[in-house]
Amino acid sequence: MNPYESEALLDQYLLFHYGSAEQVLPYSGGPVTALEFPRRSVVENIDTTVPRSRALDLGCAVGRSSFELSAFCNEVVGIDLSRQFIAAAECIRNEGELTYRRLEEGEIFTQLVARRPEVSRPERIRFEAGDALELSCNLGDFDVLHAANLLCRLPDPEPFLASLQSLVTKDGLLILTTPCTWLGEFTRPEHWPSGTTSQWLKEKLSGEFNLLNIRDMPFLIREHARKYQWSMAQASVWQRK
Ligand SMILES: C[S@@+](CC[C@H](N)C(=O)[O-])C[C@H]1O[C@@H](n2cnc3c(N)ncnc32)[C@H](O)[C@@H]1O
Repeated sequence: MNPYESEALLDQYLLFHYGSAEQVLPYSGGPVTALEFPRRSVVENIDTTVPRSRALDLGCAVGRSSFELSAFCNEVVGIDLSRQFIAAAECIRNEGELTYRRLEEGEIFTQLVARRPEVSRPERIRFEAGDALELSCNLGDFDVLHAANLLCRLPDPEPFLASLQSLVTKDGLLILTTPCTWLGEFTRPEHWPSGTTSQWLKEKLSGEFNLLNIRDMPFLIREHARKYQWSMAQASVWQRK
């Protein structure tokens, strides 16, 4: 079963995308710079004061980055393989909020509400369940393509990288982030990069894209009240030649 279809991961991702600092990390001395990754992966990698026409958010999960993109892009398409993630994102887009559970420990939960970000323009967004490796040829092209922490969840990421040139317009931006967590359960080892992920991305993308920036971006996923995953994504921003 796709782990992203489980109720536990739905709750975890709703908190990761929409939880306040206090709801996610109610401790002093915690890694506060790792909070709000799905917002930061957009606003820290793109100049949001420049209006753009079309954005594609691949592996959008429960949708936070798509809402951020809608603040400055006229049209946003958010695509994810998980039907329940897309249903949650669509509910937040339509209704403005969605109730979910935060696991405390054992079978103890707290009820919370995920709210649509104030900056967003929901009428500009379309959420779709779909596979990033089998996108419809009618999607068209985009001047922003955002794919956060998707690469190392794909069964075969190389054809995915090869498909990006046809999805991004000339001078358009490609934002890729990845924690480089290569796992056999998602990607067979023969499809892992043979060197480092950053070397591999440069090899595969440099023909069609210029690398504008590469940097580290921490993120924090809360599993329960006393257990967190702290990870360091590598974020790279590319411009289509
Ligand atoms: C690690 S999560 C990252 C989600 C989100 N971008 C974020 O930063 O929170 C990976 C996401 O990719 C989705 N995914 C995995 N394989 C996919 C595929 N082939 N096509 C589209 N989405 C996929 C999963 O359902 C999940 O939502």
